[in-house]
Amino acid sequence: MIYTVTLNPALDKTVEIPSFTVDSVNRITAMRTDPGGKGINVSKVIQKLGGQSVAVGILGGVTGRGIQSAVQEMGLETSFYFVEGETRTNLKVIDPVNRTNTDINEPGLTVSKEVLEELLSQLLARLSADDLVVLSGSLPKGAPKDTYYSWGTACRERGAKVLLDADGELLAAGLEASPYLIKPNNHELSRLLHKTLETKEELAQAARGLMERYGIAKAVVSMGGDGALYVTREETVYAEGLKVPVGSTVGAGDSVVAALAVAEERGLGLEEAVRLSSATGAANVMCSGSQAAEYEVIESLLAKVVFHRL
Ligand SMILES: Nc1ncnc2c1ncn2[C@@H]1O[C@H](COP(=O)(O)OP(=O)(O)OP(=O)(O)O)[C@@H](O)[C@H]1O
Ligand SMILES: [Mg+2]
Repeated sequence: MIYTVTLNPALDKTVEIPSFTVDSVNRITAMRTDPGGKGINVSKVIQKLGGQSVAVGILGGVTGRGIQSAVQEMGLETSFYFVEGETRTNLKVIDPVNRTNTDINEPGLTVSKEVLEELLSQLLARLSADDLVVLSGSLPKGAPKDTYYSWGTACRERGAKVLLDADGELLAAGLEASPYLIKPNNHELSRLLHKTLETKEELAQAARGLMERYGIAKAVVSMGGDGALYVTREETVYAEGLKVPVGSTVGAGDSVVAALAVAEERGLGLEEAVRLSSATGAANVMCSGSQAAEYEVIESLLAKVVFHRL
């Protein structure tokens, strides 16, 4: 089974306001709400790929219950832990006239160490060897910065493969847990190493350095429209970015993580994993907002993925 962990979910509320103006009354012409958070996005894409996952996370209040029912209505299995307080709503104001995007994000829940420990022990009780655990996204207030270290280590010691997708100090801490796979984008990898990595060779070398230093089996370095590098202990593959019409690049990385988890669970070889994850990333870029692409679109892109060994 694949478990996705979303410790800091959000309800994403997207509203369209033509000629949005501060200090004035604004009228919404269209709106939608989507359960958000990187782990939840990963679970949505796993489902489109025909895989199964359990979305684990922390929710609170009316917003939290709304997220849980929306996710369950999509047919996803969930194991959310409810706490006092209200899950954050992140408001995105899109102005089609002035072509602006304004984000107004709530601070969200504060979570105690005890809650995190309880949630982790619930997860560990369900885990068996060869399960996959996806740790991705930000942490709620109150969570220690080394949360991905403690969670990653505990899951790995249970025999699970840990896939880590985080940024900054959360990524730095998570690496210490020797995850099975990491998926930084080029900017995250540069930030981590405090230098601007530009070429494919520089990025691949940096990934290999981390793999050796921390005992990581696989690293996928995504580069937006420029594709991605797939580094294993034996080889390095560069997959070109697919030329697709861009709807929204939000969650492209989450889609890649979902495909990598499914590929791992199915025991696919490197080439198949490269095809599946590149096609899944590109297909999701074609969708608007954080909507997940349908499998037919992903499937139609599989044969178009071009990759080379470096
Ligand atoms: N403009 C694009 N055109 C085609 N494919 C894209 C584009 N942007 C992203 N992709 C695909 O999605 C993958 C992941 O994208 P990206 O590197 O932007 O992830 P990310 O920065 O982790 O995204 P996020 O964290 O917002 O989900 C890329 O490797 C590529 O396959
Ligand atoms: Mg990302």
